[in-house]
Amino acid sequence: MSATLLTPPARLDPLYARVRHLIPPMEWPVFAPDIAAIQRLKRERDAVILAHNYQTPEIFHCVADITGDSLALAREAMRVDAKVIVLAGVHFMAETAKLLNPEKTVLIPDLRAGCSLAESITPEDVRLMRARYPDTPVVTYVNTSAAVKAESDICCTSANAKKIIESLGVPRVIMLPDEYLAQNVAKQTKVQVIAWAGHCEVHQRFSAADVRSLRAGHPGVIVLAHPECPPEVVAEADYAGSTADMAAYVGREKPKRVVLMTECSMADNITVGNPEVEFVRPCNLCPHMKRITLPNIRSALENMRHEVTIEPALAARARASVERMLAVK
Ligand code: 13P
Ligand code: SF4
Repeated sequence: MSATLLTPPARLDPLYARVRHLIPPMEWPVFAPDIAAIQRLKRERDAVILAHNYQTPEIFHCVADITGDSLALAREAMRVDAKVIVLAGVHFMAETAKLLNPEKTVLIPDLRAGCSLAESITPEDVRLMRARYPDTPVVTYVNTSAAVKAESDICCTSANAKKIIESLGVPRVIMLPDEYLAQNVAKQTKVQVIAWAGHCEVHQRFSAADVRSLRAGHPGVIVLAHPECPPEVVAEADYAGSTADMAAYVGREKPKRVVLMTECSMADNITVGNPEVEFVRPCNLCPHMKRITLPNIRSALENMRHEVTIEPALAARARASVERMLAVK
């Protein structure tokens, strides 16, 4: 038996206009019922959707209320007025939202949306690093569990890592868990940076040879890299920055041709505001980010699951690390 797809309601037309170059007309009736249901459920539940830059365009452009990089999502999470936050992103982002909003209900549509960096380190590992390097502050990337944040002095994101490290006024820091981010930041500062051997499974796959062959195949292309890429990639790139920094670069500089050495959905999402820019698209998918879909966002709101909870004493310590980061101007 085949299901009949209804014509999407006209009130969704402005949303479709944003993504029509990414979603063919035949596919829109597949997405539209979930989008309409999510819009209704957000009103009924007093909910907002925070979506990371790596979410697919139908989520990013059609149901999200707030979008951005990890830093922006953490900052915006503090300003949310609604009772319920749905985090369209990975688990550590939902935990950060919960840390900053202990009284709100924070939902993640799929509990399996993890992160290879968050998986690479445990609280015990942080304690061992402290014992090995006494009197050295621990700066922890937000891509970690609340339990790891609780063992740390301060958090950072890829957008503010250098500023955070230098704000401490010390000659040496431990920076966990992304080895490449730590090495990339170490090149920009006099502070000695002791790294951990965690990697992002998406960004570690890019190589300097990839950059060179992209330049050879696409003359004049501007190469933007996320600082989770290996240092050899960042060294060959024209610019490195967080996902929001890369989006801002494209909006500001309007390069004729650009390639983003990062997750695939980034380019899709920023084509919307930059139709004149040609995006060359070698990219790597983040399987964790891709676990979030319109149907499971809808189900999260219908069934109020999966609620993110953090043990209060641990949450207080983890929150202090995030708040110290947010206090650095
Ligand atoms: P941003 O903070 O740059 O958005 O990065 C988050 C992330 O998970 C990158 O892989
Ligand atoms: Fe983690 Fe990498 Fe996926 Fe970002 S892209 S969530 S760092 S695995």
